[in-house]
Amino acid sequence: MTSQTLREARKYEETFEKMIAEEERPAFHLSPRTGWMNDPNGFSWYQGKYHLFYQYNPYNSYWGPMHWGHAVSEDLLHWEYLPAALAPDEIYDRDGCFSGGAVTLPDGRQLLMYTGVVNERQPNGGHTEVQTQCLAVGDGTDYEKYENNPVLDEKDLPEGSSRNDFRDPKIWQDEDGTYCCVIGNRAADESGQVLLYTSQDGFRWEFKSILASNHNRIGKMWECPDFFRLDGKWVILTSPQDMLSQGFEYHNGNGTLCLIGDYDKETGKFIEESDQSIDYGIDFYATQTLLTPDGRRVMIGWMQNWDTCNHRRKHEEAWFGQVSLPRELSIQNGRLCQKPIRELEAMRCNRVAFENLTFSGNIYPEGLRGRRVDMEIVVRPVEGCDMYRKFAVRFAQNDQYQTSFSYRPGESVLKVDRKFSGSRRAIIHQRRSKVLCKDGVLKLRIILDRFSVEAFINDGEQVMTAVLYTDQEADGIYFSADGTVSIDVVKYDLL
Ligand code: FRU
Repeated sequence: MTSQTLREARKYEETFEKMIAEEERPAFHLSPRTGWMNDPNGFSWYQGKYHLFYQYNPYNSYWGPMHWGHAVSEDLLHWEYLPAALAPDEIYDRDGCFSGGAVTLPDGRQLLMYTGVVNERQPNGGHTEVQTQCLAVGDGTDYEKYENNPVLDEKDLPEGSSRNDFRDPKIWQDEDGTYCCVIGNRAADESGQVLLYTSQDGFRWEFKSILASNHNRIGKMWECPDFFRLDGKWVILTSPQDMLSQGFEYHNGNGTLCLIGDYDKETGKFIEESDQSIDYGIDFYATQTLLTPDGRRVMIGWMQNWDTCNHRRKHEEAWFGQVSLPRELSIQNGRLCQKPIRELEAMRCNRVAFENLTFSGNIYPEGLRGRRVDMEIVVRPVEGCDMYRKFAVRFAQNDQYQTSFSYRPGESVLKVDRKFSGSRRAIIHQRRSKVLCKDGVLKLRIILDRFSVEAFINDGEQVMTAVLYTDQEADGIYFSADGTVSIDVVKYDLL
């Protein structure tokens, strides 16, 4: 039975999505049907389609009572909205259906696992959030909440662990049939840990282990954990809050973290070997992965950061929040490598290419423009000339605006800069990343989709993501060099 709360949300989104013209949205990045979106949830393959749910407040473009929005796709790029899947309509989730995952049951139904939130009144009049894990079962469109919710609560926590920060279950089925989930939690030392739970039937859950502990090393609380095997290693992805900058690796505030290592299945312990950021840009958080039917591990994230949510087109807008481009993951030389999903290549058209463009100063190649673009650039120093001091690609450009990536080989630093993108807010508009290029050769693959840019650096060794709300008329693309460079460019429109 659909609750009144969910019926209202469904009615609202159906009416108000009509107010949003297609050109006012990103073309191939999912945005909310109406209102606000944060984390991607329940990213899964079910009944022949990819399903993507998301943290959703349909009623306005700000965070609020969390529902689950829902969309399906055949190629992870063209999305079709389905009615909202979950609403905060039960006593155990009345203050929000927070993030979670999805898995298929043996009888063919889809099982969603999410965090139910209740604001508990304190004796002093304040509130504290209590978080538990809940289930809903459905057919790909309609979901029924489980009668025995919540299935995990404070009784299932290891000693000293917080019931206020216990959220974001990511669920999967192990090769031996066991259901598993990882959940973000705050330990007694006030920092994050990833808890592992198992279940034989998907409904009755038990605590297995503390898979990994932060011990106050990398940020505080760890949100939205994910855990999977990749190229012979084991990987934890998570999004830490309250990070401190560490060189060029991590920046202050909310960020992303990838831990690579091994896994002892007997004890349920992750054996960490290395740590790194997932994305080195400005707007990326709360990742989730799935395994495609052909065996690719694909990751998406919320193309936003809690610290930069003030960067928007206008105060009242019909939608806010986008999901990143789905990215194929691999491990190369012990590090996480990301490539845009190959399905994107089917959208390429209008090829424009330049080879060995040798220049210093600015160059405006003929016919190079667009805001839905897939562009590969190779930058090289020129024989007989000194190493160039700086190379920049500028885009979403007109007389007034531009956003850029610039690289200084002498410092091995790549910078994204959107301070001239038309933003009227004093928030972070730049970020630098250490990028090592052999002999000054830099490779960039830049994906633009109306309101965002994602740069895949040196064949996906690093990625930098940022949203930009520059007027769509600003569609120029040009290059500048301090010193002499030679570049190859291949550019497509994505239609
Ligand atoms: C991460 C997060 C999650 C939580 C959700 C609430 O962005 O804070 O931890 O489930 O957003 O909307």
